[in-house]
Amino acid sequence: MKKDLLAISDFSREEVLDLFDKAADLKEKRLKGISHSPLQGKTLGMIFNKNSTRTRISFEVGMFELGGHALFLTGDQLQLNRGETISDSAKVLSRYLSGILIRTFDHDEVVALAEHATIPVINGLTDFNHPVQILSDIFTIKEKLGHIEGVKVAYVGDGNNVTHSWMTGASLMGMHLAIACPESCKPQSGPWLDGKGKVEIVEDPFEAVQNADIIYTDVWVSMGDEANEETKTKLLLPYQINQKLVDAAKKDVRIMHCLPAHREMEITAEVMEGKHSIIFDQAENRLHVQKAILEKLLSPSLPL
Ligand code: CP
Ligand code: NVA
Repeated sequence: MKKDLLAISDFSREEVLDLFDKAADLKEKRLKGISHSPLQGKTLGMIFNKNSTRTRISFEVGMFELGGHALFLTGDQLQLNRGETISDSAKVLSRYLSGILIRTFDHDEVVALAEHATIPVINGLTDFNHPVQILSDIFTIKEKLGHIEGVKVAYVGDGNNVTHSWMTGASLMGMHLAIACPESCKPQSGPWLDGKGKVEIVEDPFEAVQNADIIYTDVWVSMGDEANEETKTKLLLPYQINQKLVDAAKKDVRIMHCLPAHREMEITAEVMEGKHSIIFDQAENRLHVQKAILEKLLSPSLPL
């Protein structure tokens, strides 16, 4: 049976912890120069209908390092964007590839692709969520703090795809997520709130960062949301991660941002380059965690 990763809830808590052990092992192997090629002969088709630096490169390098091969497929070059159905595309791609990574706008498109494909489908971001990002971020938190359960994350900014995956991830892994955003930028509510962790939404960023171990932010204007740029920038200005906000949290608070960042908008340059920032370690870990995901989903029972 193939397994997809469309949302963090596709994994159990135990599976996530196993994935983190695997990622730590892969990170150490890479550091020591030990080669490890369990995906020899495997191929990953990577469909991108939106821009990407981290997701594209880390998956492509990840496949290469695991002995496999990645094909970068821009949406506008596929027949999919000339009217070929998702189900036909999924069936055909399943005859050639070992797995599909897709970044697109409509989440339902990814769900339909997974439904019709007989190979694993990995969600590389939709308008709704970004599971590989937040899995990797929780790994970074475990690496830096030594534990996950009970950790308080203050997500400050726009309630978006990244926030939705944070809600699922925090809930599954027993974390405390305090989201601070203006009323009109609230994330959707939904079934991902049912896990062990605590998820709360407040309006005041200073309230959210109280006793926080992590302050996390993302862009104010997500890909596809450009029409709302002016309104959102005005609304979100009080939610900027600046030194004053950092000073209101724990002394050893860590600052995270999924990137790309816009300095002096959602985060100041001072904080981004300051001593609390773990942003670039966070970006590196995308590679290690996604390699663990690729090995988990692509290596079992697939023909070469
Ligand atoms: N954080 C993230 O997914 O970055 P990219 O958009 O560069 O892939
Ligand atoms: N919320 C952002 C995340 C980018 C990685 C977007 O969707 O553009």
